[in-house]
Amino acid sequence: MAKRETWNSQLGFLLAAVGSAIGLGNIWRFSYMAYSYGGGAFLIPYITALVTAGIPLLILEFAMGHERMGSAPLACRKIRPGWEWLGWWAVIFVMFGIVLYYMVVVAWCLNFMIYSFSLAWGNNPDTFFFKEFLQVASSPWQLGGLRLPIVAGLAVVWLINWGIVYRGIAGGIEVANKIFMPTLFILTVCLVIWAVNLEGATTGLKAYITPDFSKILSPRVWIDAYSQIFFTLSLGFGIMIAYASYLPRESDITRSAILTALINSGYSLLAGTGVFAVLGFMAASQGKSISEVVSQSIGLAFVAYPKAISLMPGGKFFGAVFFFCLFVAGLSSSISIIEAFISAMIDKFGMRRRPLVTLLCIAGLAGSLVFATKAGLLWLDIVDHMLTHYGLVVVGIGECILTAWLFNSALFRDHLNRVSSVKLGRWWDVMIRWFIPFVLGIILLSDIIGEINEPYGGYSWQAIFFIGWLWILGTISAALYIARKRWQERPY
Ligand code: ALA
Repeated sequence: MAKRETWNSQLGFLLAAVGSAIGLGNIWRFSYMAYSYGGGAFLIPYITALVTAGIPLLILEFAMGHERMGSAPLACRKIRPGWEWLGWWAVIFVMFGIVLYYMVVVAWCLNFMIYSFSLAWGNNPDTFFFKEFLQVASSPWQLGGLRLPIVAGLAVVWLINWGIVYRGIAGGIEVANKIFMPTLFILTVCLVIWAVNLEGATTGLKAYITPDFSKILSPRVWIDAYSQIFFTLSLGFGIMIAYASYLPRESDITRSAILTALINSGYSLLAGTGVFAVLGFMAASQGKSISEVVSQSIGLAFVAYPKAISLMPGGKFFGAVFFFCLFVAGLSSSISIIEAFISAMIDKFGMRRRPLVTLLCIAGLAGSLVFATKAGLLWLDIVDHMLTHYGLVVVGIGECILTAWLFNSALFRDHLNRVSSVKLGRWWDVMIRWFIPFVLGIILLSDIIGEINEPYGGYSWQAIFFIGWLWILGTISAALYIARKRWQERPY
């Protein structure tokens, strides 16, 4: 029997977990949410969600992987054999769903990094992004051929992912994150210092932090804060379970979970400061108000930012570094998603890592191509909505039911308290058993009700069903199928 791989150091594990958590969403999604949901006041729901759900669930996922010593399917199976499918479903829909389009966005960042040097978007970044770069089709059914710059970027991005995951845990993922994370932090700090010194930056910063307490009275803000925490900490992906399974027996699990969560949120706050300083500069130089220059998620990075880059002194360099940061943040998350699936396949079938990674990356590249067509943005929007709203949340609820209702979460707590310097009290079991499933249940219910009232994003019912729901059903079927397959002789 092959020996389970391990991290070289506890620091290596921490950086990898932070690398998985810090991703594209930390930079633009967080900033936009903070701005539109009450500025400084948004920190109240955000921190509440972090403390009451994010940290306890992250501790649970680390505990599942470490105590049961296995990837998501193996850990679930070792808790209750009939629940192996849950672990499979998580790693299948992230590998054959989330990562496919995530890579496409990382590829856009690579393209835009190169475009920055010549300010290729000219005077109209909006037209450039949607009409020239993506050439967005008018319906998801009009695929309209591949966008070659995106395909080229995708090939590079998949190749880099392949090169890292191929080398394994200590030699690949750990080494990569030891380079990626310090690079990302240093560059981000430089960008933020640059940004806050731009003219008008204070106007942006004021808009970012001025608390508007009336906004946080809306339930939507709270629901979105919990969803954001869930996605940003890579919960429900099966990643944190796999990562913790590679730790030696004596490892400070609880402290690592708390540190991962705090560093991730600290990074979001820092990135938000930079983003809003730049928007303030833009508003000042165009004589507009902040609300006129802010745009949502994708628009913020690929439309609003390019505009600012064109206006600022030394903008070409600023732009290249900004898109490089997004690229690095995206890479450190995408390798973790691939690893969650690889780890599961190695556990179950005793496969050899290298041929498996090669095959999977080729399949992944092929699967990503649909998101590189002219209808790619529309597919991305639908699949992202379905998998993050229904996939991740259901896996989170499933993990709580499995460990706290069908098993005994106190057993995990005892394990954690034995190996960790931070000791958990009974409050943790209460969170896992009652509070988190309750909150996630409300999120799920509100999404389903919203969905029934009108199809997401103004798409047709057919598009939502054939692209979104079939994606969910297809991955669940694959999970159920693979869960019935025989295990290798002695999986660790
Ligand atoms: N946690 C990763 C992100 O925020 C997936 O992008």
